[in-house]
Amino acid sequence: MRVGVLTGGGDCPGLNAVIRGIVRKGVQEYGYDFTGFRDGWRGPLEGDTVRLDIPAVRGILPRGGTILGSSRTNPLKVEGGVRRVQENLAAEGIDALIAIGGEDTLGVAAALYQEHGVKVVGVPKTIDNDLSATDYTFGFDTAVNIATEAIDRLHTTAESHMRVLVVEVMGRHAGWIALHSGLAGGANVILIPEQRFDLDQVCAWVENRFKIRYAPIVVVAEGAMPKDGDMVLKDGTLDSFGHVRLSGIGEWLANQIEKRTGKEARTTVLGHVQRGGTPSAFDRWLATRFGLHAVEAVRDGDFGKMVALRSTEIVRVPIGDATARIKTVDPALYEEAGVFFG
Ligand code: F6P
Repeated sequence: MRVGVLTGGGDCPGLNAVIRGIVRKGVQEYGYDFTGFRDGWRGPLEGDTVRLDIPAVRGILPRGGTILGSSRTNPLKVEGGVRRVQENLAAEGIDALIAIGGEDTLGVAAALYQEHGVKVVGVPKTIDNDLSATDYTFGFDTAVNIATEAIDRLHTTAESHMRVLVVEVMGRHAGWIALHSGLAGGANVILIPEQRFDLDQVCAWVENRFKIRYAPIVVVAEGAMPKDGDMVLKDGTLDSFGHVRLSGIGEWLANQIEKRTGKEARTTVLGHVQRGGTPSAFDRWLATRFGLHAVEAVRDGDFGKMVALRSTEIVRVPIGDATARIKTVDPALYEEAGVFFG
């Protein structure tokens, strides 16, 4: 039995832990051989492989990034892409493929399974935590911890200078990182993509904070939008899954706050710092268990499934269920945080 493994989409802490879990269990318990494909779907598309055995996965558990590399290549958008993937999998003698990724990578996996019978098992990853059918994705906890530490640090400098500090965190369509780090870090305003914000209200919260002699911290997700505006884009370019590059809402917001309140406002954009470096213990635990259960699904011939966390259990769900729609922040959860605004 030869099993292919790939990691696609934006990287996140814990990918290496999944790879290690898959290889250790697959080799030690089932006697499988593994082939790593480089850079997400680009690997099978171009037949670009890397050795993946027990020595290759030694020492990678605490390392961020992915030893397999990643990309946002979409074989469904390439002329003859599916046929090339199938030919390269056959040429490498691949009996099953484990795809580790977010909605885009797993969307391709679902299509390859449903429409072309490719034997795929999916593993959910994304710092955004926006995949349906799993309570958490690994990478999220690490990102939240990084953002929380940044907010803690920004509190002290904001207070020394009595200025507004706006922190822009990742989260294109879902505000999970903003909500969790904002609550954990004691932010005074949290803005998420799911709820358009009222700039007058944000300024009122900011002013209120100054009245009680504290400097406000505003946490804003990159995809957050004002009531009468749109997402702020970095530029107009699209990736092969049709996503635009975001970033800029933090700067825009700080300018607006400064203009409207007369208070000095600065911005910190956390960007890829949230995705880099060593995974938290929780993410290592979750990623490792996902890896172990993914290779178990291969052993059972249970293809077209994704491993998912439900409470503390790892279950298998149809990949299509996970990618049909993204998991956004429930309005009630956001409302709950409102007691700390202003
Ligand atoms: O999907 C994860 C994510 O980190 C998003 O939060 C963010 O919008 C995007 O990736 C950034 O992607 P890239 O690193 O390709 O610019």
